[in-house]
Formats: sequence, C-alpha cells, structure tokens
Amino acid sequence: MSKRPVALVTGANGEIGRSLIERLHQDGRYRIVTLDLSPLPEKYRPMCLETYAGNILDRYLLDQLAAHHEIEAVFHLAALLSTRGERDPELAHQINVEGTLHLLRMAQSVTLRLGRPVKFVFPSSIAVYGIPSLAEKARLGRVREDQGLEPITMYGVNKLYAEHLGRYFMRHYRALAADASRSVRLDFRSVRFPGLISAETVPSGGTSDYGPEMLHAAAQGKPYSCFVAPEARIPFMAMPDAIKALMGLLDAPQEKLQLPAYNVAAFSPSAAEFMARVKKAFPGAQITFAPDVARARIVDSWPADVDDSCARRDWGWAPDYSIDRAFDEYLVPAIRERYRNG
Ligand code: SER
Repeated sequence: MSKRPVALVTGANGEIGRSLIERLHQDGRYRIVTLDLSPLPEKYRPMCLETYAGNILDRYLLDQLAAHHEIEAVFHLAALLSTRGERDPELAHQINVEGTLHLLRMAQSVTLRLGRPVKFVFPSSIAVYGIPSLAEKARLGRVREDQGLEPITMYGVNKLYAEHLGRYFMRHYRALAADASRSVRLDFRSVRFPGLISAETVPSGGTSDYGPEMLHAAAQGKPYSCFVAPEARIPFMAMPDAIKALMGLLDAPQEKLQLPAYNVAAFSPSAAEFMARVKKAFPGAQITFAPDVARARIVDSWPADVDDSCARRDWGWAPDYSIDRAFDEYLVPAIRERYRNG
C-alpha cells in the first residue's frame, strides 16, 4: 500500500497553523509534519505524523526533514508579523526572507528528487500594500494586486519580496544551468490575507491585531484600548475562510493560475464598526480609542479593501463568512464557549 504524501506546515503553532492542522487532518489526504520554534500543544500532536520544535533558519534541520519525508506540499506559515518586525527589522528580514529562501530551496530539492513539483503554499498579506495618504486610500478603494505596492513595514517589504522569490523559483530558478530545460521546478502559490480573526487564538505581533484583541478582551470582560482611530479601515476575514482560501489555492489546477499572489477578501469594517459588533455581542464591553501613532500609520497605509476578482475568476474563490455570519455564527458563539470555563 502506498503511503499518503506528507504536507509540511511551518509556523504550525501560530494562529493559521493550528486551524490548518485540524483542516488537513479532517481532509486526510496528507500526513502532517510540523515545524515551529515552540512545541505543538498536546491537542494537535495526534493529528500529526511528526512534530519538530526548531528554527526555519536551521538549514541542517530542513535537510533532515526533506531526507526523511516525501514532502509533496509545504505550507510555509512561519513569519514575524508587522508590529514585531518594526521592533527588530533585521530579525524580521532573516525570518521572513532568509527563512523563506531556505524553505523554497528545500522544496526545490525535494521536487528534483521526486521528479514532480512540490506545491508551496504561502500566505502573503495586505501589508505588501503601502498607500501614501488617507486621501489616496479613499480614492483607490478596493485595490487590485498590482496597485499601491510600496509597503512601509519590513514585514510588508519581506512578504512582497517573498512573493517574487516564489515566482522566481517556480519559473526561472537556475535557468542557466546546463540541464535547465529538463529540470522540474516547484509549484508556488500565494494569497494576500487581510487581517485574520480566530475564535481560538489571539494573534501576537501584528498590526491588524486590534480587531481580534478587542473581541477577545470583551468576551473576557476586560477593558480594551484600541491603538487605531475609530475611522481606521482595513479588510478582515474569519479564520475558517482563511483556511478555505489556502485549501482552495492548493487544489486549483496550475494552468488556471495567472498570478503568483492573489487578493482574498471577506469584509471591511472601520474600527468603530468593529467595536459596534463587539458591543452588540458583549453589551458590557469597555472599549476606548487611544491611537498609537506608528501602529495607526501602518494601518492607514493598508488598503480599505481589496479586489479579489482574480481569485474568484481563476480558482473559484468566494468567502463563506460575511461580517454578519462571521460574528453571529462563528466568532461570538465560539469565543463565548472558549472563555466560559475561564
Ligand atoms: N496580520 C498581519 C499583521 O498585522 C498582516 O498580515 O502584521
């Protein structure tokens, strides 16, 4: 009996990683191997073939992983997010760029060994956009993939470059090598996520964190001071849709994919509208606004919304969760349940 192929998930212990492990486990087509700096909680371990605690900058460890497992898909989720990245831009570069390069190189060597393309699924971000003023942000409205690409954070710069690296590895890697015409290259696919909101976890180190932080604080009866202004607006998405996007992109036929990185959208509330939703669910919520200049500026440089018509056209993307459905059927009930027992 042939063994099921392996999917490697880096950053497995993060917000997206934990949800993705559950989804891949339900799906059943891959055996799951995970890599994260911190050990995976007990709950997720039985879902995985192997869980490694280690650093994506450790090339020896990546080579070992590649040698031991027939990796057919890589979900490279490990990253240092935008706020954290501004505190230590060089470290962000190392993790987000050098780490991604190591993973791409590893996936390419597995591709050559297996003789077929390893699928490399990469979460990019709205942070690749950098819009110079609020007037321009209002004028642009829903941005297309090729507009406003002047990111103001190291994380955004890193993600934009990583998209290019992926495209390079897929189309042009070692084009001058003697045997280039016969060589197989990896299969890179990427989505640019908006701010993500999970009922299970609170993000850390990001700048879209005010949304989920506000909600989780309210559910625990804690006061929350929001670090952007009430009128700040960026797109958000409920975690189940983020996982749907990754799986949809994984399954899309390669010949349909015309872009190396696709926008995906769901809803786009202002911080004040987000607060109104939270207060409706948790009427006692104490939420105030005390914008932090640097973090608010990052959010202001991100688009108010994104145009995801290419993803809809090329691989049939559509979110399941509108803002109503996200709050009423996913976030509020699941968060209530999560904090019920303290
Ligand atoms: N959630 C990320 C951040 O805030 C954006 O991709 O950094």
